[in-house]
Amino acid sequence: MNSSKGIPVVTIDGPAGSGKGTIAQRVARKLGWKILDSGALYRLVALAAQRQGVELDSNNKSLADIAKNLDVIFTPCHEGGVDICLEGDDVTRAVRTEECGNAASKVATNEAVRSALLERQRNFQEYPGLVADGRDMGTVVFPDAKVKIYLTASPEIRAKRRLNQLKEQGINANLPGLVRDIEARDARDSGRKVAPLVPADDAIIIDTDNLSIDEVTNKVLDRVKSVYG
Ligand code: DC
Repeated sequence: MNSSKGIPVVTIDGPAGSGKGTIAQRVARKLGWKILDSGALYRLVALAAQRQGVELDSNNKSLADIAKNLDVIFTPCHEGGVDICLEGDDVTRAVRTEECGNAASKVATNEAVRSALLERQRNFQEYPGLVADGRDMGTVVFPDAKVKIYLTASPEIRAKRRLNQLKEQGINANLPGLVRDIEARDARDSGRKVAPLVPADDAIIIDTDNLSIDEVTNKVLDRVKSVYG
């Protein structure tokens, strides 16, 4: 199936904590484009499954039904973020926990879940353009995107960033635990059979270890300008 609707798409992929979400928000705000936080969809499937007592198993067919019927509303809020409502319940904070991220990573190994979410993700395309962040945006969901970015950073740096983010949200965590979680998540996300975490052949790889948020944002914006003018 052709992913393109002729609408400009920038894909930003990378491992957990590489800064995709922050960079995607900044880039989308600067360009005035829409945003797709695909990780939130996997987190929501995990959350809905846990609430219904459904096992987060890579072969569980019920997970695909949950993904297909996900009753979710994203409402843009201040500073480029979104409020998320699942079955009428505000889950904006619940989906951001590390526990939910790890559960999402398990759900994401389920092939039927991934295909159930494919069209939903492509439907986020809207003029004037879309910035999509995740693991397989450039490889599977929007293979025709003209600007593909892949962000990397060492596990230690990513864990530190995550710790700060969680602190800002008033969520407790410890650094060694976060490094372990991140490494386990990398192994699961990169090692799975379907849509593993890999840079697209035509992606620009940016190592963000020694770059500020502004520097990374500007690199992405420069690339967008060079393609779309
Ligand atoms: O980006 P995130 O941390 O919110 O993603 C949570 C998990 O969801 C991640 O560990 C793997 C999965 N995921 C995925 O498999 N494909 C995507 N496009 C986005 C997320």
